[in-house]
Amino acid sequence: MDHFQIIGGAMNAEHVPLPDIARAVGTPVYVYSRATLSRHAQVFRQALAALPKVHIAFAVKSNPNLAVLRLLAKEGYGADVVSEGEMNRALAAGMAPGDVVFSGVGKTARELAAALKAGIGQFNLESEEEGVELAQIAASMGVVATCTLRVNPDVDAGTHAKISTGKAENKFGVAYDVAGAIYTRLSALPGLNLRGLAVHIGSQITDLEPSRQAFVKMGALMAGLREQGQRVTHMDLGGGLGVPYKAGDMLPTPADYGAMVAEVAKDWDATVMFEPGRVITGNAGVLVTQVVRVKQGSARPWVVVDAAMNDLARPAMYDAWHDFAAVQPTGDMIEANIVGPICESSDTFAMARTIDAVQAGDLAVFRTAGAYGATMANTYNSRALVPEVMVDGDKWAIVANRIEPAAILAAEQVPDWLD
Ligand code: LLP
Repeated sequence: MDHFQIIGGAMNAEHVPLPDIARAVGTPVYVYSRATLSRHAQVFRQALAALPKVHIAFAVKSNPNLAVLRLLAKEGYGADVVSEGEMNRALAAGMAPGDVVFSGVGKTARELAAALKAGIGQFNLESEEEGVELAQIAASMGVVATCTLRVNPDVDAGTHAKISTGKAENKFGVAYDVAGAIYTRLSALPGLNLRGLAVHIGSQITDLEPSRQAFVKMGALMAGLREQGQRVTHMDLGGGLGVPYKAGDMLPTPADYGAMVAEVAKDWDATVMFEPGRVITGNAGVLVTQVVRVKQGSARPWVVVDAAMNDLARPAMYDAWHDFAAVQPTGDMIEANIVGPICESSDTFAMARTIDAVQAGDLAVFRTAGAYGATMANTYNSRALVPEVMVDGDKWAIVANRIEPAAILAAEQVPDWLD
C-alpha cells in the first residue's frame, strides 16, 4: 500500500490532488509522500526487532533530498554515504556524525580526512590499500578511525548485472579467501579501530536466498577471526532488499528479510548494521509528467511525455519497469509506447504497454520513482533539473527547486582567447 490513490477522480498524494501540484510547480516533478516514507522506515525497523543490537543507516544515494534525510533522521535513522557531498547532506539534515557510515570503493584522501574531521562513525574499507591510507591520515590527525572491512562473498544476487556487487568480478570489497589475512594485518595498524565486517551483494534483490548465503559466509568468517583472537563486534549487511515495481509483484517483505537475518545471526553476538535505500524510498515517490502529444505509430501510438531519461534514468539504464498511470483515468485502456522527448531511442519508458488511455495535455505518473529517481537526473539536451515536492496530509512543499537551463548556462563561460 502507498499513499498515491485516486480520490474523487484524480490521483492524490496523501490528500493533495496531483493536478494542484502540477499546476503550481509545472511538470515533470517528483512527488514524495511523507506518510509512506515514515511507514517504510518504521516497518523496516520493526522487521529487525528480534535482533538485540541494530544500527540502520539509510543509503543516501537512493534519495539524498534534504527533507527526506531530515524525516529519516527524525525516525532515528543514520546514513550510509559514499561521498563528501552525501556526508554533508546527512549532517545538514541533522544526523549525528556517529550514526554515519562512509562506504565506497574510491574514497579520496580529502574525503577520508573530511570524514575523520566530522567524526563519522564508521568507514567501510573496500581494500587493504584504503585501510593503510586511512590509518596514516588518522594517525597524522591524532585520531582513530573506526572501520569495518567490506568483503566480496562471491555470491550472485540474481539482480540486474549493472546493480550486482557481490560477485568476484565486481570491484567491491576484498576477496573472501584473503579477507581474514587482510583483517588481521589492518587490525594491527595504529590509527584504525577495526571492529567488524561489511557486505552488500546488490540492489533490487527479489529472492532472499543469495543474501542468506552471503550472510552465512560472513558469519563463518567472523567466527574464524574470533577464533584467531580478533575482535569483531559489528556486522554490516548492506542494503539491497527489492521492492515491487509492477502492480501484483510478490516480493519478500521486510518481515521476511528480518526473520531470515535473525535466523542466520542468532549466535553472532554482534551489532548488526543495515543500509536500506530503495525499500524505504522507492514506493514513496512518483514522477508526475504531462503528455505532450500522442503520435501515430505503425504498430501502436507513441505517447510522448514531458519527462525523459534525464529525469528518470532507470528504464534507459537498466531496462527498468515503472508502472504508468493516468492522474485522471477514464477507465479506457490503450496499448502504446511511452517515450520522452530526448533525441535518442533509449529515451523509452515502455514499449507495447497496456496503459490508461491518455491524450495531449493529460497528467500521468511513473510509479515507484522515489529511489534512484531525482538523484540520477541530469540536464542532457539542456533540460531543467527536475524539482521535488513532499506531501504531508493535505500540506505540500517544494523540497528541491527546478534548476532551469538558464541557471546552468550562467555557470559556463567562453574564454577570452576564443574571441
Ligand atoms: N549499501 C551499499 C554499499 C550500496 O552500494 C547500496 C546501493 C546500498 C547500500 C543501498 O541499496 P538498496 O537498499 O537501495 O538496494 N541506481 C540503481 C541502484 C544502484 C544501487 C547502488 N548501491 C537503480 O536505479 O536500480
